[in-house]
Amino acid sequence: MPQDLIGGLDIGTTKICAVVGEVRENQVDIVGLGCSPTNGGLRKGVVVNIENTVRAIRKAVEEAETMAGCEIRSVYAGVGGGQTKVINSQGIIAIKDREVTPADMERVIDTASTVAIPSDREVIHTLVQEFLIDGQDGIKDPVGIHGVRLECKVHIVTSAATSLNNILKCASRAGLEVNGIALQSLAAGEAVLTDEEKELGVALIDFGGGVTNLAIFAENALRQNFVLPVGGNNLTNDIAVGLPTSLHSAEEIKKHYGCCLNALADPMEMLEVPGLTGRDTQQLPRARLAEIIHLRVAEIINLLGKEVQRARFNHPLHSGAVLTGGTALVHGLPELTAEALQMHTRIGYPVGVGGLIDVIHDPSFATGVGLVLYGFKTQQKAQRKTERWPQGGGWSRGRSDRGLWSRVKKWFREVV
Ligand SMILES: Nc1ncnc2c1ncn2[C@@H]1O[C@H](COP(=O)(O)OP(=O)(O)OP(=O)(O)O)[C@@H](O)[C@H]1O
Ligand SMILES: [Mg+2]
Repeated sequence: MPQDLIGGLDIGTTKICAVVGEVRENQVDIVGLGCSPTNGGLRKGVVVNIENTVRAIRKAVEEAETMAGCEIRSVYAGVGGGQTKVINSQGIIAIKDREVTPADMERVIDTASTVAIPSDREVIHTLVQEFLIDGQDGIKDPVGIHGVRLECKVHIVTSAATSLNNILKCASRAGLEVNGIALQSLAAGEAVLTDEEKELGVALIDFGGGVTNLAIFAENALRQNFVLPVGGNNLTNDIAVGLPTSLHSAEEIKKHYGCCLNALADPMEMLEVPGLTGRDTQQLPRARLAEIIHLRVAEIINLLGKEVQRARFNHPLHSGAVLTGGTALVHGLPELTAEALQMHTRIGYPVGVGGLIDVIHDPSFATGVGLVLYGFKTQQKAQRKTERWPQGGGWSRGRSDRGLWSRVKKWFREVV
């Protein structure tokens, strides 16, 4: 795989999505995309069948390779929020009345990152929230500032070691090396949010197939991540039971006629709903479908609303809400979310990249495209670091290395 190509692998509950980005003049162009259904390989974001997952990864990667005309050997992969936990930690060092140097900054991050992590969990991100110098908070870049005491607050994102290892195992069996792992919501944020939105405060809601993830970004950092084990698959089940029809027909009907606001469905419009085996096709009003979808979606948004309210205590969310994931395409969802959360809401289509922008114009590709962008940023940071410490100094190592993760583990630091 040439140096200037970056692969992203989104392992979702319903589909695996492989994205290839090419770096040209400091900008990423998307040159390949492949998607394959997981066919029961995952449940609620967790790998439950290795064979099916590996098969889906291979298929998605082959498709992306054909489109890009290259071979993908390494990827940045995503890990779902359901398996992750956040630990807040703080570190403090003395700087003896002089200017803060980059080495001091590294040292204080190291101090803040030194926490006891249970043996069944692995660190995937150390996200710097802010620096404080002599008690003055809200500092994003402390280098060059004069002071005596330097403090740092970090979010340490950990993932269940087993689910992480299963992701690595599937990628490895599909012939891929994993360059790095990112929290899916952090990756999606890279693809759909502007810097201004992240600064002013925004709720990123990923309505996937198996789970719904709420991520709060404010003052340019991820502040909170919350996962509900409910998603588009539940809508399909509700439709299948409520109409009633087969799961396959329910999925098709949802995608073509799905709407979550009665006001948007023409009261006279009738749908042809194939009956279950041996039963006749029935004519049902589209408004009935809207009712079924509305019930479930409203329930999800109300549950998320409580978390959003809690987040608003600490961070005003001036940029409103952004919806990603395939379920974001249900008609009326932005309107319903805007009303329920009392904030401006839009659908998050991947932006900030060039190339096949028409192909990736879909909120369900946000995480895949975001993983490529995350990989690009990570590589840029690593390059800057090498320039600063050509001998490789300045980085401290993490905890004792275990399992497959140890082969790819790097201490990524996302400095605000
Ligand atoms: N046009 C559409 N209208 C309504 N729902 C849709 C549409 N297109 C896709 N979906 C639904 O979106 C869901 C898949 O979304 P997505 O691809 O974001 O999930 P995933 O990443 O595979 O799963 P997860 O993020 O939950 O692990 C499915 O439930 C699918 O039915
Ligand atoms: Mg997803």
